[in-house]
Amino acid sequence: MGILEVTGVSLNFGGVQALSNVNFTVKKGEIFSIIGPNGAGKTTLLNCISGRYVPAGSIRMNGVEMVGMKAHARPGLGIARTFQNIALFAQENVLDNVLVGRNHLLHAGIMSSSLFWTRWGCLGEEAEANGAAVKALAALGLEGVINRPVADLPYGVQKRVELARAMVAEPKLLLLDEPMAGMTLNEKLELAGHIQKLNSAHDVTVLMIEHDMGIVMSVSHRVMVLDFGEKIAEGTPGEVMENTRVRKAYLGEEIS
Ligand SMILES: Nc1ncnc2c1ncn2[C@@H]1O[C@H](COP(=O)(O)OP(=O)(O)O)[C@@H](O)[C@H]1O
Ligand SMILES: [Mg+2]
Repeated sequence: MGILEVTGVSLNFGGVQALSNVNFTVKKGEIFSIIGPNGAGKTTLLNCISGRYVPAGSIRMNGVEMVGMKAHARPGLGIARTFQNIALFAQENVLDNVLVGRNHLLHAGIMSSSLFWTRWGCLGEEAEANGAAVKALAALGLEGVINRPVADLPYGVQKRVELARAMVAEPKLLLLDEPMAGMTLNEKLELAGHIQKLNSAHDVTVLMIEHDMGIVMSVSHRVMVLDFGEKIAEGTPGEVMENTRVRKAYLGEEIS
């Protein structure tokens, strides 16, 4: 059994078949990447996994069916994500941005500010959240910028803050939508290193959408290729690169 099992997933947006009968399994411990041309359905697939869209078919996390599951039941499953476009509070500092990712784990939630809660109850959870944040920040090499407003940081560092925010929930599966888009090559290589470290040292399975083929092929254990909402290939980076359908659809090569 894989950590994530996607079976027969289809989704239609008013006539556009964004996903057609997509099947794949992500194994625990791997970095699994999804590639494909713009509009192939990659983000839509991630949105189905994260629960934003409800597709036809089945998506199981550690054997638990997630399609149709209520949003509040999901956090406990151990999935965290980052978004294609940066989604941080630019004026807030790094620590506060990262703590946002911990919110769903705070049992007190909004009630934590309520006078009904004992001082110790709140402080206990707050201390735990701060501890988790510090750990996530350290995992991404952000200790030095904890108190800086996000807006002051270079783009590549902001992306790492997003990753830290996802990590603070202590996920088992991390969903990353084009984490390296808009980065310089050095920033990409640095982030790729962090992703590999999260995967190997922090025991996080990674499902990543990424455009940069060089990065995808060097960091992924396996790769799946989508084209017009359909899976056209899946395998090791080497297998996928040699696939003629992939070369035609994704790399624009003619099959002679
Ligand atoms: N919310 C939406 N409403 C309608 N169509 C959408 C929506 N999201 C995506 N699509 C369409 O679904 C297809 C797949 O889009 P998307 O998943 O964003 O592709 P990718 O991330 O691979 O570039 C595209 O044709 C896109 O226009
Ligand atoms: Mg996308």
